[in-house]
Amino acid sequence: MTAASAAAAAYIVAALLFILSLAGLSRHETAKAGNAYGIAGMAIALAATIGLATRSASGVGIALLAVAMVIGAAIGLWRAAKVEMTGMPELIAMLHSFVGLAAVLVGWNGYLSVEADAGEQTEVATDLLGIHSAEVVIGVFIGAVTFTGSIVAFLKLSGRIKSNPLMLPSHNLLNLGALVVFAVLTVVFVVEPNLVVLSAVTLVALALGWHLVASIGGGDMPVVVSMLNSYSGWAAAASGFLLGNDLLIVTGALVGSSGAYLSYIMCKAMNRSFLSVIAGGFGNEGSVSDDKDYGEHTEISAEDTADLLRDASSVIITPGYGMAVAQAQGAVAELTRKLRAKGVDVRFGIHPVAGRLPGHMNVLLAEAKVPYDVVLEMDEINDDFAGTDVVLVIGANDTVNPAATEDPGSPIAGMPVLTVWEAERVVVFKRSMSTGYAGVQNPLFFRENSRMLFGDARERVEDILRAL
Ligand code: TAP
Repeated sequence: MTAASAAAAAYIVAALLFILSLAGLSRHETAKAGNAYGIAGMAIALAATIGLATRSASGVGIALLAVAMVIGAAIGLWRAAKVEMTGMPELIAMLHSFVGLAAVLVGWNGYLSVEADAGEQTEVATDLLGIHSAEVVIGVFIGAVTFTGSIVAFLKLSGRIKSNPLMLPSHNLLNLGALVVFAVLTVVFVVEPNLVVLSAVTLVALALGWHLVASIGGGDMPVVVSMLNSYSGWAAAASGFLLGNDLLIVTGALVGSSGAYLSYIMCKAMNRSFLSVIAGGFGNEGSVSDDKDYGEHTEISAEDTADLLRDASSVIITPGYGMAVAQAQGAVAELTRKLRAKGVDVRFGIHPVAGRLPGHMNVLLAEAKVPYDVVLEMDEINDDFAGTDVVLVIGANDTVNPAATEDPGSPIAGMPVLTVWEAERVVVFKRSMSTGYAGVQNPLFFRENSRMLFGDARERVEDILRAL
């Protein structure tokens, strides 16, 4: 067997492992196995690629490869070990920017080593040269959009720049104009590849990526991150075509399509139009300033909450971002165990965008060893609130806001929410009356059947545990 065919076989195995990994990651019960498949697939892919590269590379090339891998692995391990769960979206955004940058570099390298090099050009059949040029220009375009888009997403998510949408006049026309310019430049480049056109495409794409994400408001950033995930996949697939690497094409397509599908699911969960997200510049509808009089809220103590729970036969817990901030998942899991041991039916209702990244709450609850079968999705549990004695809203706000269904003028109008207010009693754990991520007030806090339990969610849950 030649080295090339051994590598091709290894790539097929790795591609299958990536598909198994995605399948595994789609369910709690199989997520760990999914992760293991992914790691195994990546190890095989890396080994095969290095094996192939070292056969043709010079000593300097191999040394450079080794140094780059050691530095990359060290930075990756350091960041992954350090990152807080709440900082995950910005880390992911940052990693997407690397994929984008890599695609731009691969594209430029493709141009410099083929189209710009008369000697090499003869190695690519003339009728294939046009296809090569198209791959270069498309790869550079997608990569550059992903690169700057991800940098803006990183800056917004980490609070380094304001998350308000940038509203340039006729921003949709600007985006459309950039796409038209790209289409024209692609044709020109394929007909006559040259440095000026490739530089122009790169600049237009860098500006478009920046503008697309800068025009999107903070509340819609989760969709943007998953959309950039998709873009980074397509950028990798484009690089795969240029490098003639089948595995990169397959993996890029897997990332591209799964990211697009995730964006679609999140858009549905937030009642946003998928097309308007892809076009950029949505999420700025409605005004956040609000001077409506919502009435008075009523407070409750941890001891009284413990009494409510003692008398309840059914309880639903709806966690949100505040549970992650307070790191309350361990105490919440302990409360669940205690109540279940007393015969109370305790379940969790998880909103698809609760927290700051898809699956955020599921990961925290799994980490705290809450049994999977009591953790239900919003659609599975929404009809059950009406028959529930007590709902504990732990650090959630936008995801339980009745204004989304009742106030057509609300900035989050139309977003499906957990209908917690239908329960007999709702206890809301938060530190103050301040708003959630979308910056809108929540009428739930002022309802007659709602009680506010102020303070850090973890401390308050521990108080309840003591009182029980
Ligand atoms: P939010 O609406 O962000 O509300 C979280 C609440 O937790 C806040 O009102 C805050 O109130 C409270 N809180 C913070 N720290 C706390 C602590 N230590 N103890 C107790 N409470 C604490 O959360 P949500 O309901 O999970 O909704 C998620 C929001 O984030 C949505 O708007 C969604 O669109 C957006 N988003 C989601 C994602 C994904 S994919 N999940 C990504 C980015 C953004 P106090 O300050 O008064 O304590």
